Amino acid sequence: MTDAATTPQIAAERVAQLRAELDEHNYRYHVLDEPSIPDAEYDRLFHQLKALEAEYPQLITPDSPTQRVGSLALSAFGEVKHEVPMLSLGNAFEEDDLRDFDRRVREGLDLPVGDLFGGGAEVEYSCEPKLDGLAVSLLYENGLLVRGATRGDGSTGEDISVNVRTIRNIPLKLHGSGWPSVLEVRGEVFMSRAGFAALNARQLESGGKTFANPRNAAAGSLRQLDSRITASRPLELCAYGIGQVQGELPDNHIGILTALKGWGLPISRELQLAKGAEECLAYYRAIGAKRDALPYEIDGVVFKVNNLAYQRELGFRAREPRWAIAHKFPAMEELTELLDVEFQVGRTGAVTPVARLQPVRVAGVTVSNATLHNMDEVMRLGVMIGDTVIIRRAGDVIPQVVQVVAERRPADARPVHIPESCPVCGSRVERTQLIKRSKGKESVSEGSIYRCVGRLACAAQLKQAIIHYVSRRAMDIEGLGEKSVEQLVDEGLVRSPADLYTLKFEQLVGLEGFAELSANNLLAAIADSRQPSLARFIYALGIPDVGEETAKLLARALGSLQRIQQALPDVLTYLPDVGLEVAYEIRNFFDDAHNQQVIHDLLARGLELQEEGELSPEFAACATLAGFIDKLNISGIAATGAKNLAEKAASLDGVIALSQDWLELSVTKGLSEKAKQSLREFFAVEANIQRARAIEAQLREFGMHWQSEKRVVAGLPLAGQTWVLTGALEVMSRDLAKDKLESLGAKVAGSVSAKTTCVVAGPGAGSKLAKASELGLKVLDEEAFLAELAAYGVVA
Ligand code: IVH
Repeated sequence: MTDAATTPQIAAERVAQLRAELDEHNYRYHVLDEPSIPDAEYDRLFHQLKALEAEYPQLITPDSPTQRVGSLALSAFGEVKHEVPMLSLGNAFEEDDLRDFDRRVREGLDLPVGDLFGGGAEVEYSCEPKLDGLAVSLLYENGLLVRGATRGDGSTGEDISVNVRTIRNIPLKLHGSGWPSVLEVRGEVFMSRAGFAALNARQLESGGKTFANPRNAAAGSLRQLDSRITASRPLELCAYGIGQVQGELPDNHIGILTALKGWGLPISRELQLAKGAEECLAYYRAIGAKRDALPYEIDGVVFKVNNLAYQRELGFRAREPRWAIAHKFPAMEELTELLDVEFQVGRTGAVTPVARLQPVRVAGVTVSNATLHNMDEVMRLGVMIGDTVIIRRAGDVIPQVVQVVAERRPADARPVHIPESCPVCGSRVERTQLIKRSKGKESVSEGSIYRCVGRLACAAQLKQAIIHYVSRRAMDIEGLGEKSVEQLVDEGLVRSPADLYTLKFEQLVGLEGFAELSANNLLAAIADSRQPSLARFIYALGIPDVGEETAKLLARALGSLQRIQQALPDVLTYLPDVGLEVAYEIRNFFDDAHNQQVIHDLLARGLELQEEGELSPEFAACATLAGFIDKLNISGIAATGAKNLAEKAASLDGVIALSQDWLELSVTKGLSEKAKQSLREFFAVEANIQRARAIEAQLREFGMHWQSEKRVVAGLPLAGQTWVLTGALEVMSRDLAKDKLESLGAKVAGSVSAKTTCVVAGPGAGSKLAKASELGLKVLDEEAFLAELAAYGVVA
């Protein structure tokens, strides 16, 4: 909120100052890629500006960073005539096509062509990636963005001004100074791979339409009549040229792009100058080699004659400039026929459909299988066996079926059915259930995954389980490859991970691929793995949805296998990032008699878990009575209500008693009538009381007490301190350093602020270290940090 004493004049000054600051931060973030403040600080400045503008609406200007989203949906886009036509590019597919292009350029410019001994003049080219998105035109008048348009047919496009304004890295006002009074910037609006994946995940969750590729997603997002939808999509701009201009600009293309960058327009980081065709080809190969590693998709590179006078001299042919060409990469999408759908059984029993395809070459790789993910995906695609489908291979990702070409469906196409029994072991196949809890009530719905119920009796699951169990990040047993695991299982020598510990030398040497030495090495590796950390062991068990991080979290927070085995789903959700879904997976896993037997056998055969101990202080500290009430999910009682209730009632019994005491409840402050009503209703249900008591009892059994919630951390030496780790740590991993600090009661934060107690900076530390010195904070290098830890008796 703004200060009541603010006068309109002070407000106007503050607004101008905030806008200038935000402009600078935007420029550093989007153009230079060097933010100097954390996102949270940017948000604070932004909200200060918003609050001031709300109080003084007369101060709002269209170029204010708050004015990105128009609120009214359009009924249609207007038309925009392009003063300078938006052209397309000719294509080169082979290296010789590019050499021909370069020859035509030199001939067109009357430059000597040269012979085997050189002598020809080399033309300078600007080299840029060809992003796969949508071309846009952005018109700036006196530095202000006044119009955005699509390319359309090249001479007339659509007015998408409100939509382009929502794209964060497009400046509403040009940065710096010296720009032409009229400047039309052209570039590509695209979606990064990460943005695309996040959008599709979100769409799937909300039951919306998913997009086949980032290009379609960008196009679909930009051409929304409701700009609020566009605003919610992760679109970005990359500027690559100009249209109409009134004013001065450099006389070469790279100079112009560099000027645009200075004015706040993002340009490609891969922009380079090349002399002659061979350097262009070297650029093409270099970008091709890192194509899969780029954060966005490209379909080629673009070469442009750098000298503008040369560009004018060369001119155009039809709709293509003679001075530029796109050198394309092999396509990432191809058409082929879906021959069949088979079902694979994974480690957790998930039965997933796999597409068997008529082999087709996609971007240089022959693809004959593609994933179909799950049956929901099969439904969503509406795919049938015999269909012609579009296959997409993006980077290293497994090829995917992204679309069905409906008009090519043959008359004898067959639907895809999930098998009733497991294709490997014949056990029943069940659909998974999704558990949701809202307003204190649990509801169960059907999940998209089907599972074979055979568990380790299913050879497919057993093999995968063993492969996972021995893998490097799990039990790290070297010398047992997939082929050997298959043999061990097929020969009946291994029926559970516990059987690894009773393997005999004679059994191994009889197997294909095992000699005396390798058999002995494997037995030694198995013996060496008998003392895993609790986290490794939990991960190795292969609990569905429990990856390495969650396993570490469980081990660190709960401290013992026994507690992890017993934990109620509600208690598990106290862990950060553990939702009810995962919590139930964990619970179900340990409830299963078969799994219990495996764990029992593993321990009986001499496995000794390390690092078993106490509940972590962070976990103990997060279980406050208020948090506990909040987590019960009683409708109308959110964080604040829960806090008030906790203060009033002091214990669960107190809350229950209060809910049943009509008179007392009616005079309780800090709760709405509706909240009181639902509190009463919630605890009128015996099952809810029991659930709450069970959670409380378990938390107590684990050693936590509402009353002592603060003390657990308060007693620790670094309690109340906030530490930041930055740069590379050499002796201790960052994770471990964080653990150690937390075990001493400190909070470990991701960004530096005036509240930071100390910053540990290793080599390569950047903006955080700079900020720390700016603020005059205590900074330690790794050596000093280790010494400080040692002083508290903590060793690396
Ligand atoms: S220059 C006169 N540069 O490719 C030159 N285009 O086929 C006009 N594109 O419509 C385009 N990245 O959407 C140029 N670095 C780049 C580009 C690029 C992507 C797209 C653009 C254009 C199409 C031309």
